Amino acid sequence: MPGLFSPFSVKSLALDSRIVLPPMATGMAAEDGAPTERHLRHYLARASRSVGLVIVEHSFVDPAGRLSEGQMGIHSEAVLSAHAALAAGIHRAGSKVALQISHAGAAARSSLIGTRPLGPSARPLPRDGAEVPCPLPVTQLEELKEAFALAAMRAVQAGYDAVELHGAHGFLLSQFLSPLANERVDGYGQTLAGRARFPLETVRSVRARVGPDYPLLYRLGLADYLAPPQNAGLKLEEGLIVAGWLAEAGVDLLDISGGLGGARPPAGGAGYFLPWAESARACLTIPVLVAGGINDPLLADRAIRCGMADLIGVGRGLWADPAWAEKARQMLLGAS
Ligand SMILES: Cc1cc2nc3c(=O)[nH]c(=O)nc-3n(C[C@H](O)[C@H](O)[C@H](O)COP(=O)(O)O)c2cc1C
Repeated sequence: MPGLFSPFSVKSLALDSRIVLPPMATGMAAEDGAPTERHLRHYLARASRSVGLVIVEHSFVDPAGRLSEGQMGIHSEAVLSAHAALAAGIHRAGSKVALQISHAGAAARSSLIGTRPLGPSARPLPRDGAEVPCPLPVTQLEELKEAFALAAMRAVQAGYDAVELHGAHGFLLSQFLSPLANERVDGYGQTLAGRARFPLETVRSVRARVGPDYPLLYRLGLADYLAPPQNAGLKLEEGLIVAGWLAEAGVDLLDISGGLGGARPPAGGAGYFLPWAESARACLTIPVLVAGGINDPLLADRAIRCGMADLIGVGRGLWADPAWAEKARQMLLGAS
């Protein structure tokens, strides 16, 4: 059975370790969204031969989908060279590197983007301060799919080894999936298949642009898990069905997380998404990555050996201790 330091590969993405630095926004981007020297220092401190893959933080594909001032963007040619420097630096430090691409949709703020945020329907997200979004007409959905595809191509040009679509945490792709945000009465809503249509079409549009061999990851919010009375959101059974559709649409690796409820459920103990990852892995033919309170190398190793997941994300653990993965290697394999 493979362990935490067994090699792993999917398409051209060949990793020396199964530890992944999951995407974590640092808020350190330049005004135009370009990665900065501070990013370089942050990521280089954590990349190493012991971290198989670094997934660089969510980067907006279009200015209308920008979440915050310091968010990274991959929306224009102007930021390409800074991305290329970041990807090259992470490669030199010993890790493979992917970029997460995202559109905040209804989670954006009009005070930042200068217009009303866009969303599936005119229904605010179930969170404090949410604005009533402007419902997206079908013509604009076409533009957004193209924005994702162009952003992915820029990531390829910048030298990233893979791209991850952000379909979790209540951002645009996750909003489409959730009945709490998507009240559309056209073909992009109403049923699970309708709500999944825009995310699936976005995957196909990205796949068509990057070609059949480029590794494509998808971070899926498998369920919304909001507390009552809002527990009418996306359910785990539905999320698992969508996971299968994503694989059929061309996703190579599924990154498990939460939907409108975010990356951390209120009662999240150690390895809180491992049961979801195990369920997804059991019904999928593509590999699965999971993060969420996995700070103990023994738990991470066991999760791989028991077949609960193929890759383990260690976010806050690596943020707090950049040497986490090297220490895990020493603990599990001894000095090498
Ligand atoms: C400061 C911070 C920023 C984050 N930014 C992102 C992000 O850009 N994209 C994303 O999908 N998840 C983001 N997350 C969620 C993490 O990727 C991860 O799923 C979560 O922290 C749980 O894993 P952990 O317990 O190992 O930290 C963020 C989490 C934190 C703490």
